Amino acid sequence: MDLDTFVRALPKAELHLHIEGTLEPELMFALAARNRIALPWKSVEETRAAYAFSDLQSFLDLYYAGAAALCHEQDFFELAMAYFARAHADGVVHAELFFDPQTHTARGVAFETVLDGLERACRAAQARYGISSRLILCFLRHLSEDEGFAALEAAQPHLARLHGVGLDSSEKGHPPAKFVRLFARCRELGLHLVAHAGEEGPPAYIVEALELLGVERIDHGVRAAEDPALLARLAREQVPLTVCPLSNVKLRVFPNLAAHNLKALLDAGLKVTINSDDPAYFGGYIAQNYIDTAEALGLSRGELKRIARNSLEAAFVTEAERAPWLRRLATLPD
Ligand code: ADE
Ligand code: ZN
Repeated sequence: MDLDTFVRALPKAELHLHIEGTLEPELMFALAARNRIALPWKSVEETRAAYAFSDLQSFLDLYYAGAAALCHEQDFFELAMAYFARAHADGVVHAELFFDPQTHTARGVAFETVLDGLERACRAAQARYGISSRLILCFLRHLSEDEGFAALEAAQPHLARLHGVGLDSSEKGHPPAKFVRLFARCRELGLHLVAHAGEEGPPAYIVEALELLGVERIDHGVRAAEDPALLARLAREQVPLTVCPLSNVKLRVFPNLAAHNLKALLDAGLKVTINSDDPAYFGGYIAQNYIDTAEALGLSRGELKRIARNSLEAAFVTEAERAPWLRRLATLPD
């Protein structure tokens, strides 16, 4: 079996995926025309050409500009269905989708419009592809904690439709400590908790996310490698890291994939997963992330199986949901 076939055959969960980051330029332009929204680019080609990033912020500026094309329930539905079609082709059996409601409510799009469209797509993906999914509301960390509370208030009537909350956007200068009260409230509400930490920010932000916010997984977390004590703790406690290798290269966290520390983290015993982050912007969906990383770092089939197993074990699902995926994974060769 060649690598591509093997990777797509691995039953896997995608745990770090911003649904707004799956907006391909073709759909962006179609939606912008339909909604009479002016984009900062003239064409699909010009848009793709603009995807040369120097850091996280240079990407976020484009990402928020592109998200302005999303206005109606149907837009969010089409966005998520396009993602699920690709995820299915990549062997994803379960996806936990991040969404950024504050990006949309700031433009006058109702929270319900976003949620209704995404949820309808989640149901359709289960029916069409057998993919299960969850929705995780991400708070924008460049905004204030009070603005986060306002987003939570808008979500409150729909909590049963959400599975958890996360923390994303500009990391540097916006430590997890800024959101202690908000995450404490979300915990009281019974939501799962995750946070981006240690992507561009220092290892101390990972410690804060664990200790002050009480998160169950760390999104990215690659800078943990700079702190041996933290590394040992993450291994001991088996805290899942949702690593996104192609994203890390595009945003210059690492100069190239061969320099990525994913294998070192795996060798240190950490519960590493591979995910696509914002695949429309970073040049590949989840299978491409597995394949390119395997080739660059020389990952064995056994290591790829371990990464897929980690993703299934780290998913916010019941044991009854997880068991058949794990059984199927075990049937694949090492
Ligand atoms: N929002 C979308 N993608 C992100 C990333 N990689 N880091 C922080 N915020 C994000
Ligand atoms: Zn992310």
